[in-house]
Amino acid sequence: MKTDSLYIHIPFCDHICSYCDFAKVFYKEDLADQYLRRLQKELAQIPRHPMKTIYIGGGTPSALTYEQLEYLLKRVERFIGKQTKEFTVEVNPESATLDKLKLLKQYHVNRLSIGVQTFQDHLLYFIGRKHYSYQAIEVIENAYKLGFENISIDMMYGLPMQQEEDLMHDLERILESPINHISYYALILEEGTILHYKHYHPLDNEIDKRWNDIIDDRLNKMGFHKYEVSNYAKGTHESLHNKAYWHYDNYIGVGIGATSKIDDKLINHSRNMKKYLNGENIEEKEIQTSEDTMFNHLMMSLRLVEGLDLEDFYQRYQKHVEDVFGYPLQKHLNEGDLVIVDHHLRTTPESMAYLNDILVDFLPE
Ligand SMILES: C[S@@+](CC[C@H](N)C(=O)[O-])C[C@H]1O[C@@H](n2cnc3c(N)ncnc32)[C@H](O)[C@@H]1O
Ligand code: SF4
Repeated sequence: MKTDSLYIHIPFCDHICSYCDFAKVFYKEDLADQYLRRLQKELAQIPRHPMKTIYIGGGTPSALTYEQLEYLLKRVERFIGKQTKEFTVEVNPESATLDKLKLLKQYHVNRLSIGVQTFQDHLLYFIGRKHYSYQAIEVIENAYKLGFENISIDMMYGLPMQQEEDLMHDLERILESPINHISYYALILEEGTILHYKHYHPLDNEIDKRWNDIIDDRLNKMGFHKYEVSNYAKGTHESLHNKAYWHYDNYIGVGIGATSKIDDKLINHSRNMKKYLNGENIEEKEIQTSEDTMFNHLMMSLRLVEGLDLEDFYQRYQKHVEDVFGYPLQKHLNEGDLVIVDHHLRTTPESMAYLNDILVDFLPE
């Protein structure tokens, strides 16, 4: 299988949010310089070829200085060609200056993912963000004026102290924004985060379901269709890079904490900065059994509204999905929480809410 998606992890942040469990460290200029030099070596080892999708995520890529960002973008140029359809960079409102946005545009970035989370200043404060809502609005408007084709925002619900009217306020604000993609995540309480330490209680299932329905409904009325558990797009603006993950296609990940998937091989990078800077970045290489590969493919694809492409599954493994997952598949088809439509196995709008419970039945022995 071809490998034409590239992920680059920039682990630096200007602040640490109270809910976040991603691979990140506080930004320091000299540390970031060393990291970028190491990253350059890793990138140089990948044979030069145009990627279909490139994603620079974090951490906070926009926490880098203008010069550091340019250094990185120059190293990525060798993976850009006619076949490159999507080049995304994650930016945060407090550090995505107009100059940096112009620089990204100049180096062929055509998609921005802006970490908004909420448009309410008091809630931003509770989750440890360092920007104000007006800055998020400014970055969205600047990106739009600069002509970025794809503007996505990250939002969260279930935040500490958040009320239903806060959610409504955020949704109204979205209506006024020139964006064409939204990732709307339910806050997950991760061990080791400040919120976990403070014994924050996430939403109970009933409210979670109600708020999720409100989000689906409101965004739908604004012209966003839901295409994945937490993702909504207008028209054709679904994220191609993230779809490569959900289709269980191959991808290369570089930088600390990143993962590569090459056919049945998973390569996980250590999160340890010191090791990474010393060149010992690969923590473990795992060859998946064919059962694990097929299960992971099913698990990722069922997150999509379109579901698992049954023909593609057969082409990859020379096995029909019903021969691999006989009993659990039949059980969930009979119960109606999985359906087959247009040669795709998918959840229903209702059963998507309890996808994890369904998947437990499909786990390999
Ligand atoms: C790891 S961040 C990187 C992007 C950027 N630094 C930012 O903060 O926007 C990617 C997104 O994951 C989401 N996220 C991170 N931790 C989460 C959690 N515990 N629960 C739900 N969503 C989370 C946030 O919406 C965040 O924007
Ligand atoms: S959510 Fe983003 S800005 Fe906040 S700590 Fe995580 S990666 Fe950094």
